[in-house]
Amino acid sequence: MYGDDSHLVRTDTSLLERMIERLVTQRACLDRAVHLVAQLTGPVVELGLGKARTYDHLRQLLPHRQILVFDREIHAPQAYVPDRADLYLGDFRDTLRETSERLHAKVVLLHADIGSTNRERDRQLVDELAPLIDELMCDHGVVVTDREMRRPHWERLPLPASAGNWTYYMYRVNKRDG
Ligand SMILES: C[S@@+](CC[C@H](N)C(=O)[O-])C[C@H]1O[C@@H](n2cnc3c(N)ncnc32)[C@H](O)[C@@H]1O
Repeated sequence: MYGDDSHLVRTDTSLLERMIERLVTQRACLDRAVHLVAQLTGPVVELGLGKARTYDHLRQLLPHRQILVFDREIHAPQAYVPDRADLYLGDFRDTLRETSERLHAKVVLLHADIGSTNRERDRQLVDELAPLIDELMCDHGVVVTDREMRRPHWERLPLPASAGNWTYYMYRVNKRDG
């Protein structure tokens, strides 16, 4: 999944501790985001099924919402793979563009867990994805992401106090201010 990681250096914080901080942060941010969009109507998007950890968390928090899931390939256990109708396989840049034309309702919450160890490649990917995501989102929808995304009318939100020591981003999409 992570490609060439030969440029990585070891740090004083163990990989286990870093993983714990990441997961605690993801749970805190997703829980907050679900609360923020409770009054909005529309589907949810999970960008990056991976091992389905965060998708399954969203599914449990939002049993009655449609959750559209994107990845280029399946790494998740079969029991956690979404139904075919909600699964978009391929490069995000292609599948998001196609979905934008087909969606009947705007998205209320999008979680993008798409980072790799290659920051430069991630930046290029995110620069292409942010306008596509913006197109999908409803006014006051929330974007939760592991990589910074810059759009003029997106308002960066503080992370919940229960988040761990891990960089994550939450944005409210203010369409009418844009
Ligand atoms: C960090 S993992 C997601 C982990 C997941 N949220 C979880 O909790 O298990 C990132 C995923 O994004 C997918 N991915 C990365 N870049 C992609 C791209 N350009 N198009 C489609 N999928 C991509 C990878 O295949 C990988 O499964």
